[in-house]
Amino acid sequence: MGLSVALVGMGRIGKVHLPALSAARGAEVVGVYDLNMQLARDRAEAANVPRVFASWDEVLNDPDVQCVGVLLPHDAHAPYTIEALQAGKHVVCEKPLAPTLAECDRMLAAAASSGRKLFPVHNRVYSPAVEKMREIVQQDGIGEIFLAQTNGFEAPPTVQTWLATPRGGGGVLMSQAVHPMYVLRWLLGDIARVSCLFGDRKVVDMSAEDHAVVLLKFASGIAAEMTCTFGVAHGPLDHSITLHGRDGYLELSRQRLQAIAPRLFGDTELHEIPLTETGANAAFGRMWEDYARGILENMPTRQTGEDGKRAVEIVQAAYRSNATGRTIDLPLGVD
Ligand SMILES: NC(=O)c1ccc[n+]([C@@H]2O[C@H](COP(=O)([O-])OP(=O)(O)OC[C@H]3O[C@@H](n4cnc5c(N)ncnc54)[C@H](O)[C@@H]3O)[C@@H](O)[C@H]2O)c1
Repeated sequence: MGLSVALVGMGRIGKVHLPALSAARGAEVVGVYDLNMQLARDRAEAANVPRVFASWDEVLNDPDVQCVGVLLPHDAHAPYTIEALQAGKHVVCEKPLAPTLAECDRMLAAAASSGRKLFPVHNRVYSPAVEKMREIVQQDGIGEIFLAQTNGFEAPPTVQTWLATPRGGGGVLMSQAVHPMYVLRWLLGDIARVSCLFGDRKVVDMSAEDHAVVLLKFASGIAAEMTCTFGVAHGPLDHSITLHGRDGYLELSRQRLQAIAPRLFGDTELHEIPLTETGANAAFGRMWEDYARGILENMPTRQTGEDGKRAVEIVQAAYRSNATGRTIDLPLGVD
């Protein structure tokens, strides 16, 4: 028997998790829950899921539910996760793990005291392109890396109603840039210093920042720059990551991975690296398979609850930097 999971929150990302988890080896969806019952029923029917829970308590009290997927607005992550852990469930919680470090700590403490596991949805480390980037970095394919750059270019329709509120969403850093932050950590290691500025020209109707620029210094000495916005008017939309090494260049942009890497190709031309793509949402399925093994077989997983907290810490350092005009050293004290 695989890991039996209840998915809570059937909105935009619930719709992605549902087929990915249904197709994953070693895990199955036993039911779904959403405050919007009709939406939950529709999603369950479309995915052939047998059960729609009538209430959150029903999820918590069902002995058939081993794990809960928390796919809710950000301010609901900590309370739902902690209640699920205390009810004896394992939890896979959407990014960001929680808006504040204090909430992340309470979630990690609840996992430790209940003896259950807590994982963040850090889906991009399971994408074939990012996996390949890490493989190339680890085999020293572009030499010693000294510089990294990321772009997150999204358009205003990305911003849901709750995302426009300060606690629900927390801005483009908390909801979007957290992705390249955990990806860069996975590729390049821990971050030592963070600096950030928001621009003053708000272009999206949301209370928190809609665009920002972040500078990172890694513990290894690598420098990075991250640009992110929800305000792109007419495109192009993109999430890109570029790495520069002493002996080459590696870039993921618009689903294409390209490199100039004499060590890999024997020349200084630009090469496209073929990717084994297995569907747009394959990363979510592979994530669920990894976490199911982590829970059922106690295997090490690619990311942990602690990695979820570390990603939030980088975002919080960026907020603190913008507010104070200073560069912020990590680790941060609890906010
Ligand atoms: N990993 C990714 O690539 C990715 C992409 C998009 C969103 N997300 C994350 O997924 C989470 C949800 O985002 P979304 O875009 O799906 O939002 P959404 O608004 O589309 O869906 C949220 C759903 O939760 C339900 N809901 C709200 N409060 C509830 C409660 N207390 N109990 C039960 N149901 C409740 C709503 O009815 C809605 O259906 C956020 O953390 C967001 O950052 C992740």
